[in-house]
Amino acid sequence: MCGIVGITSNKQVTSSIINSLRKLEYRGYDSAGIATLNNGFINEVKCEGRVNALEKNLAKNKLQGNVGIGHVRWATHGIPSTINAHPHSSEKVSVVHNGIIENSTILKKYLIKKGHKFKSQTDTEVIVHLITEYLKKDDLKKTILKILKKLHGSFALGIIFKDEPDLIVGARRGSPLAVGYGPNENYLGSDSYALKSMTNKISYLNDGEFCVIKKDGVEFFDVKGLKINKKILELSSNEQTYDKGDYKHYMAKEIEEQPTTIKNCINEYIDKINSSINIFNFPWKSSEISSITLIGCGTAYHSCLMAKYWFEQLTSINISVDIASEFRYRNNRFNKETLYVFVSQSGETADTFAALDLCNKNKMKTCSVVNVVESSIARESKFVLPIHCGPEIGVASTKAFLGQMLVLYILCLKIGKMRNDINKKVYFTKIKSLFDLSKMLKKSLETESRIETICSSFVDIKGSMFLGRGYSFPIALEGALKLKELAYVHAEGYPAGEMKHGPLALIEEGMPVVVLAPRDQYYKKTISNMQEVIARGAKVLLITNKSKDEIYSENIWEKIEVENISDDLLPFLITVPLQKLAYYSALKKGYDIDKPRNLAKSVTVE
Ligand code: AGP
Repeated sequence: MCGIVGITSNKQVTSSIINSLRKLEYRGYDSAGIATLNNGFINEVKCEGRVNALEKNLAKNKLQGNVGIGHVRWATHGIPSTINAHPHSSEKVSVVHNGIIENSTILKKYLIKKGHKFKSQTDTEVIVHLITEYLKKDDLKKTILKILKKLHGSFALGIIFKDEPDLIVGARRGSPLAVGYGPNENYLGSDSYALKSMTNKISYLNDGEFCVIKKDGVEFFDVKGLKINKKILELSSNEQTYDKGDYKHYMAKEIEEQPTTIKNCINEYIDKINSSINIFNFPWKSSEISSITLIGCGTAYHSCLMAKYWFEQLTSINISVDIASEFRYRNNRFNKETLYVFVSQSGETADTFAALDLCNKNKMKTCSVVNVVESSIARESKFVLPIHCGPEIGVASTKAFLGQMLVLYILCLKIGKMRNDINKKVYFTKIKSLFDLSKMLKKSLETESRIETICSSFVDIKGSMFLGRGYSFPIALEGALKLKELAYVHAEGYPAGEMKHGPLALIEEGMPVVVLAPRDQYYKKTISNMQEVIARGAKVLLITNKSKDEIYSENIWEKIEVENISDDLLPFLITVPLQKLAYYSALKKGYDIDKPRNLAKSVTVE
C-alpha cells in the first residue's frame, strides 16, 4: 500500500506535500514522512503515526526546499516506527516507495559487502543504497535503468538527488503512479486524487516506465530508457468536497447515504420511462459470451459471490467467482467466450489489478465494476461499469458494497434479457422492484436504536458466527468481515447448512450468533439451522423481514425486521443492520472507526 507524492517548484513545497499526504492517508496511516532538498542537502522529518503527527513534528523542525517527496506508510517490511518510516535517505539520494521489493534480502547482502550500512528493517532501504552505489560510476539515467532491472517485485518510486536541485524521478512497476502539471511546478503522486487540489492535468505511467520531473517539464521513458510521449488528460476540475458533516464518522455518513447512492445509481442505469437498461456500447454480443468469471477481494469478492446467486437464478450463463489473489497465480483455463468482471471500489487493489492484467495479456474480454473511474483498474479494462456512489472514505466498505451489488444485479438483468433468459413479465417486475429499493433501504436504516443496544453483547466475546443460506450467505460473510475489521472480534460467516459439518462444535452457552433468515426460498431451512444453534446455547440475533406470519422457533434472543421487497433484493436490506452492528460495536470499544488498525482503504500491495 502506501501513498507517495513529490513536488518540484519555484516555491516552498512542504505544506503542499502535507496536503497531498492527507489525501493519501487512505493508503496507509501507520507512519509518515517528508524529505526536501535545501542548499544541496537532503533533510527529512518522519514519525510513527498519522499526517497530523508529522505536521506537529514539522512545526518543531522546519523543512525548507523547492523539491520534496512525501510518504504515508502501511508497513510490509519492519514494524511501524520512525526509523522504518519513509523517505529513506543516504547523503546522495532519498526514496519513497509503495510496493514490495521481493529480492531485498539478496540485494542487502550484496550492498553490505560493498560497505553500505543499513538503518531500518525495510526493503525500501536497499533501493537507496543501490542508487548510491551505482551513482559512483554511472549518470542518473543509467543508474535508474540499472536499479530498475535489479529490483524484483512491484513498486512505485519517488526519488530526489542531492546533486539535482530541480528533479524528481518517478518509476512504476505494478503500483500506480500519476504525474501532474502545474504552473512553474510539476508533481508526482500515487493517484490523481492526491494532486487534484494542485492540478487537473494528469498523465499516468504504465508498467515499466519511469519519468524525470522538473518544474518546467516532464520526460517519460520506457523500460529500455527510450523517450516516449504521454497524453495529458484533463480531469474534471471541480474537486469533490466530501466531509463528515454532522456525523461522527465517515462510516456513519456512508451508511446513511445508501438510499441516495442507490437511487442515483439506479437513475444512471435505468430509464424509468421505458424500463430499459442504459448500458451502451457494450463491446460484445451475447452470442460471444458463454460464461462469466467475477473477481474481487474482501467486500468486493462478497458482492461477486452475491451476483453468482442472481446470475444462476435469472440466467442460463455459466458463472464462477474468484478471489483475485488466488486467481492471479492459478493455472487458469482462459476462454475467449468468458467475460471477466473485476469488482473494486478503489480500482487500485493490487491483486485485482494483477488478475485483470493477466486476463488482458491473454486477450480476454475484461470489464470492471468500480467506484473510482479514474483508477488503474477502470483504465485498463475494456469496458467499465461505474457504481456512482461518490467517494467512500471509511476503510470499511459500506455504500460501495451495495453499489457493487446493484450494478452486478443490473448487469445480470441486462445479460439475462440479451440472452432471452428472462421473459418480459419477469424483467418488468424486477425493474419495478428496483425503484422501491431506495425507499425500503431508508426504512431499514430505522433499526438503528435497537442495534445500539444489542451490540453490547458483541463487544467482549470470544467470537461470533453469522449464518445464512442462499442469497443470505454472501451477506453473512460480509457481516462477519465488518465485525472483524471494525470491532476486532473474531467472527465467521458460514452457510447455515454447513454448521453440522464441524463449526457447530464452536457453539457454547451465551455465544452471540447472527442468523440471516429473510422470508425467501431458503427461510424454513435456515430457521431449522437456527434452532440447532439455539439448542446448543447460542444467543441468536435473527435478522429477517417483516411478516404477519409467526416464526416457528422459541428462545430467539433478539429479532430485527427489515422492510419487504422482492426476495432477490432482500440482501440489500439485511446488510444495513450488519453494518450498524459492526459500527456500534467498534464505537462502544472506542476504536478508530474510519481507520481500523492494520488496514488501509486501498490495498496496493499483494
Ligand atoms: C472492506 O470493508 C474492506 N476494507 C476490504 O475488504 C475491501 O473491500 C478490499 O480490500 C477490496 O477493495 P477494493 O474494493 O477497493 O478493491
